[in-house]
Amino acid sequence: MNEVGSNRGAVATLRKIRVWDLPVRLFHWVLVALLVALYLTGEYGWLDLHMKLGQAVLVLVIWRVLWGLVGSDTARFGGFLRGPGAVLAYARSLLTPHPLPVAGHNPLGGLMVIALLLAILAQAGSGLFTTDDIVVEGPLYHLVSGKTASLMTTVHHYAFDVLIVLAVIHVAAALLYLFVKKENLIGPMVTGSRPLPPQLPAPALASPLRALILLMIVAGAWIAFVSLI
Ligand code: HEM
Repeated sequence: MNEVGSNRGAVATLRKIRVWDLPVRLFHWVLVALLVALYLTGEYGWLDLHMKLGQAVLVLVIWRVLWGLVGSDTARFGGFLRGPGAVLAYARSLLTPHPLPVAGHNPLGGLMVIALLLAILAQAGSGLFTTDDIVVEGPLYHLVSGKTASLMTTVHHYAFDVLIVLAVIHVAAALLYLFVKKENLIGPMVTGSRPLPPQLPAPALASPLRALILLMIVAGAWIAFVSLI
């Protein structure tokens, strides 16, 4: 599991250990690229492509939720979602020169991960029932009443604002760690490895093949669902 260590002797020798599996890293950066592409295709009215990319994001986030149940230690929700006591203890440790060391998401970052995933789910999910009232309809638009579709269209617009605010806080937090706490969280999301004190055990990382099979199942189920419905 994603243990939180003690910060006593925080300057002890660090060793580099692999904390993020390849699937989580690919998920993160592909997600960022897709969200930028979704913004651009939405702004410029390339709505056919926009809807395809939106469904790709939805499939990825559903995959990530399942990977949070059957994936690597640091990907599992049970590993990084902590109670209020642990969140407060971690937040207090941020005021000291050496925050409590954690292998994966820290208790505060874990909450942000959930907020980001929920906002993306709301954004992509509402898009399925949305219409531009001219030519384009989301793939599940025909299943709901005009009133529900109009509510979903409103959600689709506002969820984007929420997502932007969360993304700005998320990136600002990563930059604060880098420049104020002198702790680079961004590098490990690229390389997978992070310097950690010896008291923290290396997390168990699940096989990328398991992740790929899971992704194929989710994508296949989604394609079958939208073509049958
Ligand atoms: C260039 C901008 C970005 C940087 C530098 C960045 C950096 C990071 C870092 C360092 C982590 C790991 C945090 C930790 O150590 O606990 C992370 C996780 C995450 N980030 Fe970002 N991020 C960026 C943009 C975004 C955007 C735009 C989104 C979505 C709106 C996003 C969603 C996530 C999610 C969902 C996770 C959790 C990954 C997982 O556990 O699967 N990130 N990001």
